[in-house]
Amino acid sequence: MVKFGVIGYGYWGPNIVRNLNQLEEAKVLAVCDKSPAARKRVQKAYPQVHVTTDPGELMTSTEIDALAVVTPVWTHYDLAKTALENGKHIFVEKPFTSNTAQAEELINLAARKNLKIIMDHTFLFTGAVQKIAQLLKEGTLGKLYYYDSMRVNLGLFQHDVNVLWDLAPHDLSIMDHLISEDPEAVVATGQTHLNGFEDVAFITVYFPDKIIAHINVNWLSPVKVRTTLIGGEKKMLVWNDLEADEKIKIYDRGIEVTNQQGLYNLLVNYRSGDMWSPQVKQIEALHQELAYFVDCIVKNQTPMNDGKAGLRVVKMLEAASESLRQRGALVYL
Ligand SMILES: NC(=O)c1ccc[n+]([C@@H]2O[C@H](COP(=O)([O-])OP(=O)(O)OC[C@H]3O[C@@H](n4cnc5c(N)ncnc54)[C@H](O)[C@@H]3O)[C@@H](O)[C@H]2O)c1
Repeated sequence: MVKFGVIGYGYWGPNIVRNLNQLEEAKVLAVCDKSPAARKRVQKAYPQVHVTTDPGELMTSTEIDALAVVTPVWTHYDLAKTALENGKHIFVEKPFTSNTAQAEELINLAARKNLKIIMDHTFLFTGAVQKIAQLLKEGTLGKLYYYDSMRVNLGLFQHDVNVLWDLAPHDLSIMDHLISEDPEAVVATGQTHLNGFEDVAFITVYFPDKIIAHINVNWLSPVKVRTTLIGGEKKMLVWNDLEADEKIKIYDRGIEVTNQQGLYNLLVNYRSGDMWSPQVKQIEALHQELAYFVDCIVKNQTPMNDGKAGLRVVKMLEAASESLRQRGALVYL
């Protein structure tokens, strides 16, 4: 049994507590939140769980093995560092930290203390991303051309980070998982309209082998869109995460370019074949992810979404922020 403390019971924290409590090999012993209203909600939902305003109580508890940090981004580093110093494994919300130096320090600290860090890169545990990973691994799409994602909705406005640090970690962690090449450079543009933080942003990521990725994140969209196009030489797919049943559609469509014999004219053939929708597992990703973390602790294994995965995402965010400051300058990674 892995015993957990959870810090932060705002919007996302209740999902962590609920899913941990559903696991046979995990138990939430305590929840900490600065807000009286949040603490009241914990007490009502889980009368047996200890509730406190002081993170120190969870950090120093001899009964707690692991801590989940589910607070705003700017607090992650201090809370995670203190947890590791006190010998706790940590589950940290995305994005890992506010900069790469902090992420590197936490990774080294965890390694010295032989503790696990797992990043909440929730989407890696969805049936859709697992299916796409399988399709890419089996070569169904052929050579990868591009990843193009639209992740927009009205709000939720964050008070400590811009839309890039809030929404883009999802796509950056998915890309980090799906694309085996390391990214080379980033370009980002965006604009602030309301609270001084960019609320609309566009990121382009260049990979070797002519793979290109584009992410559109926006808190000012009238409608919610969660659509990703992934194009390959052999097949292309559309992943609409808002679809209940047919989340992924694979298209046997593409273009073949040949040189006509003896001539220098390019012959362009359009291929327009079948479309089909593969079965995607309907699972609660967070449940799978937390079960995987508990398993990694019990079996002393390194999670695939460890601190280094968190660092790779923060590196891209940092480069994107630099590019944003320079109105779209190319920033090498
Ligand atoms: N993986 C996902 O899909 C997903 C979804 C939403 C949010 N998140 C992440 O979860 C984190 C929290 O986001 P949220 O939307 O729940 O924020 P939130 O503001 O709704 O909740 C944060 C809670 O933490 C508490 N808090 C802040 N600092 C604290 C401290 N030092 N000690 C104790 N309590 C403290 C606040 O009182 C608040 O109740 C962020 O990193 C965010 O990016 C992840």
